[in-house]
Amino acid sequence: MAKRLLTSLTLMATMAAGASFADGHIAGAIKARQGQMQLYAHYLGVLGGMARGNTEYNAEAAQAAADSLLAVASISGATLWPQGSDMDSVEGTRAKAAIWENFADVGAKSMAVTTAAANMATAAGTDLESLRAAMGDLGGTCGACHKAYRGR
Ligand code: HEC
Repeated sequence: MAKRLLTSLTLMATMAAGASFADGHIAGAIKARQGQMQLYAHYLGVLGGMARGNTEYNAEAAQAAADSLLAVASISGATLWPQGSDMDSVEGTRAKAAIWENFADVGAKSMAVTTAAANMATAAGTDLESLRAAMGDLGGTCGACHKAYRGR
C-alpha cells in the first residue's frame, strides 16, 4: 500500500513539475497514458464479461485479469501527465485542463482505482459472487474520474 501511495504522490508531484518537459515528450506521454487506460478497459472487460455471465466464470482467468488490472493501476504515472498535454493545448487527447488545477483530487481518484483494484484482486479468484460484488466499486472509480476530467 505504501508503494501505491507513493505512485500517486509521484504522479501529483510530476504534474506540478511538468512544465519542464519538452514538447516532443507530450505526444508520447499522451499515447502511453491512453495505453494504460486501454489496458484498464481490457481487464475490466474480462471481469465484466464474467460478472454479466457473457463469459463462463473461471477463477484462474478472473484472478489473472484482476492481478493485471492492479499491476496497471500500480505503474508510475510520473511521466504520463506533463504540463501542456491537456485537450485545450494539444490535439489527440481528451484530458481536461482541470486535471492540472486539481492535483489532490486527481491523486485521490487515482488512489480510489488502486484500492478498488486491490479489492477485486482479493475477490475475483474466490467465486463469481465475490467478483460481482467488487465490480460496481471498481467501475465506479473509473467513471468518477472520467466525469470530472475526461472531455468528450
Ligand atoms: C484519475 C483519473 C482517471 C481514472 C481513475 C481512470 N481514467 Fe480513464 N481516462 C482519464 C483521462 C483523463 C482520459 C483521457 C486521456 C487522454 O486522452 O489523454 C481517460 C481515457 C480513458 C480511455 C480512452 C483511452 C484512449 O485510447 O483514448 C479509456 C478506455 C479509459 N480511460 C478507461 C478507464 C478505465 C476502465 C478506468 C478504471 C479501471 C479508468 N479509465 C480510470 C482519466 C482517468
